[in-house]
Amino acid sequence: MNSQEMVDLCLKHSLFSWSATGKVDPLPIARAEGVYLYSPEGKRWLDFNSQLMSVNIGHGHPRVIKAIQDQAATLLYAYPGMATEVRARLSKRLAELVPGDLNTFFYTLGGAEANENAIKAARLFTGRHKIIARYRSYHGATHGAISLTGDPRRWPNEPGMNGVVRVMDPQPYSYSFGGNDAEVVANNLRYLEEVIQYEGPKNIAAMIIETVTGTNGILPPPEGYLQGLKALLDRHGILLICDEVMCGWGRTGKLFAFEHGGIVPDIVTMAKGLTSSYMPLGVMAVSDRIANHFRENVFWGGLTYNAHPMCLAAAEAAIEVLIDEKLVENAVRMGEVMRGHMTRLAARHRCVRTHRNIGLFGLIELRKNARNELLVPYNGAHPVMPKVGRFFRDNGLFTLTQGSGIMCNPPLCINEAEMAEAFGVIDGGLGLVDEVYEG
Ligand SMILES: Cc1ncc(COP(=O)(O)O)c(C=O)c1O
Repeated sequence: MNSQEMVDLCLKHSLFSWSATGKVDPLPIARAEGVYLYSPEGKRWLDFNSQLMSVNIGHGHPRVIKAIQDQAATLLYAYPGMATEVRARLSKRLAELVPGDLNTFFYTLGGAEANENAIKAARLFTGRHKIIARYRSYHGATHGAISLTGDPRRWPNEPGMNGVVRVMDPQPYSYSFGGNDAEVVANNLRYLEEVIQYEGPKNIAAMIIETVTGTNGILPPPEGYLQGLKALLDRHGILLICDEVMCGWGRTGKLFAFEHGGIVPDIVTMAKGLTSSYMPLGVMAVSDRIANHFRENVFWGGLTYNAHPMCLAAAEAAIEVLIDEKLVENAVRMGEVMRGHMTRLAARHRCVRTHRNIGLFGLIELRKNARNELLVPYNGAHPVMPKVGRFFRDNGLFTLTQGSGIMCNPPLCINEAEMAEAFGVIDGGLGLVDEVYEG
């Protein structure tokens, strides 16, 4: 099929997520390799968002393709009540790689399902009902996960699951309280402790956070937040669930983002980079304490495709590529290179409000005036943003713009030349935003 045929049929017979299908203008992708996507006619785009911040090892890696093919030839499917070799191998490997006593895993098909099962595990383990979640968050599109989600994707799904208490994260949305990290953390934790008192600590099973907030703005926690939060929750017997669906598997320059904070959560959810999205897989990791509970008590959760051999084989190979090719180390090194480009462009373009990145998890934030107001109001729009998106696309760059942010989340295998190519295009896009800067 050529590009036009692909686009026409996809639009005619399939629905696109988070969109009115009539307004979607999808890129036609025939193949992908490394950091590049290709149309049927050979037009090339540099993938500066790793698709959905998920193709961490880059596209089309032959080792993962081979592992999937080999697994297909050996055993395509076994129902979840059976033991398989790939399940045994991957579970052992995960127990080695995931820090602390997070040694036991429940497999799902993606991040939302991992979070659904984390809610379930936390409630069954503690016998408590409420879950604390944060406003600036996304946890998935299924009933429970979208109820945990703070951002506007939750609104059309309301009323959702009950028992969710939503709180602020340490930094407000569009301004700063001022103060250093220690003050910001102390204030936020004092507020959180008050919320816990009002809700009744004995009613709260868990708090879920994105360790580094993703689509709501690439927000690494301030220094000391994770340790303070874990200690506070521990005092009240509340479990900490770290959603590492987006920030896990090397994205931030460590295998898991919670390692930056020197803590080990009680439950961790993962997906995306786990297989680099080559196959659909999520996982909930639980501490020994929780795992032991479910050795005696039923875990009331299940999925036909739980521990699907094909998906597990993809994960096993993708993880080994990540490690053998030192891609986490490359994320640290190239994260510095990325910061250099961002700093350079911030000096050139008055529309840049700020930029931030942790490893290869980054964003350039845009402003509309010298008062530093965000270009796009919360859940709003600005006519220049679609033009910026179009400019990127016409000039061979794929990335997402989210509110006032330009997402900078390339595959972890990116090199200097590819990084420079991407920022060359971003430079041009920022020029368009400069033109609407109000001064
Ligand atoms: C932090 C986070 N949690 C959960 C999810 C949901 O994962 P999935 O789309 O695989 O269900 C996402 C997806 O973007 C995410 O970014």
